[in-house]
Amino acid sequence: MPSSPASPATLLVIFGASGDLAQRMLLPSLYGLQHAGLLPAPLRILGTARSELDDGAFRAAVAEAVRRQVPAADLDEASLAALLARMVYHPADSGNADSMRALGERIASLRNGDVLYHLSTAPRFYAPVCESLGAMGLAGPGTRVMLEKPIGHDLASAIAINDGVARVFDEDRVFRVDHYLGKEGVQNLIALRFGNALFEPLWNARHIQQVQITVAETVGVEGRGDYYDTSGAMRDMVQNHLLQLLCLTAMEPPARLEPTAVRNEKIKALRSLRRIGRAEAGTETVTGQYTSGAVGGRVVPGYIEELGHPSRTATFVALRAHIDNWRWSGVPFYLRTGKRMPRRSTEIHLQFRAVPHSIFDPSARIAPNSLTIRLQPEETIELRLMSKTPGLDRAGLRLSQVALDLDMHEEFAAAARRPAYERLYLDALEGNGTLFVRRDETEAAWEWVDAVVEGWHASDITPRPYPAGTWGPASAIAMIERHGHSWRE
Ligand code: BG6
Repeated sequence: MPSSPASPATLLVIFGASGDLAQRMLLPSLYGLQHAGLLPAPLRILGTARSELDDGAFRAAVAEAVRRQVPAADLDEASLAALLARMVYHPADSGNADSMRALGERIASLRNGDVLYHLSTAPRFYAPVCESLGAMGLAGPGTRVMLEKPIGHDLASAIAINDGVARVFDEDRVFRVDHYLGKEGVQNLIALRFGNALFEPLWNARHIQQVQITVAETVGVEGRGDYYDTSGAMRDMVQNHLLQLLCLTAMEPPARLEPTAVRNEKIKALRSLRRIGRAEAGTETVTGQYTSGAVGGRVVPGYIEELGHPSRTATFVALRAHIDNWRWSGVPFYLRTGKRMPRRSTEIHLQFRAVPHSIFDPSARIAPNSLTIRLQPEETIELRLMSKTPGLDRAGLRLSQVALDLDMHEEFAAAARRPAYERLYLDALEGNGTLFVRRDETEAAWEWVDAVVEGWHASDITPRPYPAGTWGPASAIAMIERHGHSWRE
């Protein structure tokens, strides 16, 4: 439990305020919250980065970013003006003590209650920035810090960052972002599992045969090659987004929907993940790297052409994981993520076991039931069932697979779809950490990922090429088929 109840922050300090994430996601989300009347009335927003801007130039840049992201027809000038009126800017170089001191003075002059620091910079700055805030007396009670991913690039670097931050901020004041947790569809998974009595009795190894978690993207690495090439699909996507989806799918019911209870259940799932190390990396995982091809009818270059130099970084990973506990013993969790896939698709698919005995004619094929929770691009929930094919079948009932399909966009047509960062900002401003990642989760995820990566190095496993616009290397299909399953497409 938080040591003391937080009050809504009245100052938000964004480090990296001129960066790509800020332009694409953060500033437009703040606009969305402003427009919806959800920002705390007294909130001021201080942007900081190395660029030498004054308040006016920063506001102009914010307005431009918001106009770029929000369709003109939806843009409300009064809301934008109200957001800009909250904003100020102070240039700072986190490696320079004088510059940080001047920033600290500006923060102190604006402070009028709780402060949320949002570090949207390279992770190597997290510990030094926190330490200088601490040294200036700006990180005590009533302050909290929001950290972007990645928290390091392996367990050792994650521990170093977390230790540095922990010297200044207690864990309940640290909000580690995994933006997937801010997505409506991900929170709906919690609602679906724990708001219905229907699923829980079936949500286990006795009734579920296999689970597939897919995060397929059509984008390549575009301008992010420098970062991505040191990371690859395993560190960029599996360590955080896919393992978080796995946790929410596999965890036990938390006692309450509050930060400690939820995160205690997620960490148990992570700690039950069977290690994939040297001996298993070759059979339980497949890696790939896209070559040139076509996505959505458009010819696109390969990863190496985009990057401009040779690389062994994987842009695709598929693996077979197991959660060694009572609930999931023996159920494979197939995880798959890749860039330049044929279409964008984020989904969790649970396939139930076959009926124990068929009373129908042997020619009637009974497909197992399945539940697919699609998060992107559309939010849908689909339950596949067997049904009678209409007709007077004198030779015996004919069966067909049918879908009970719930389209969340249609069902809640009147409700605006909220971008992930609106939810995350709102919660962090109010001090609610339920949708943020706790230190032990990050480190347990890194420990598991490190073993896989070490297994690849030890066995000299390099990514297999796959043409852009395909579902990864053929070996990914072979891996799942060896176990009698197939990927959903
Ligand atoms: C980020 C990764 O965390 O998530 C990117 O660094 C990836 O490589 C992105 O493209 C995907 O997020 P979303 O919300 O588009 O599914």
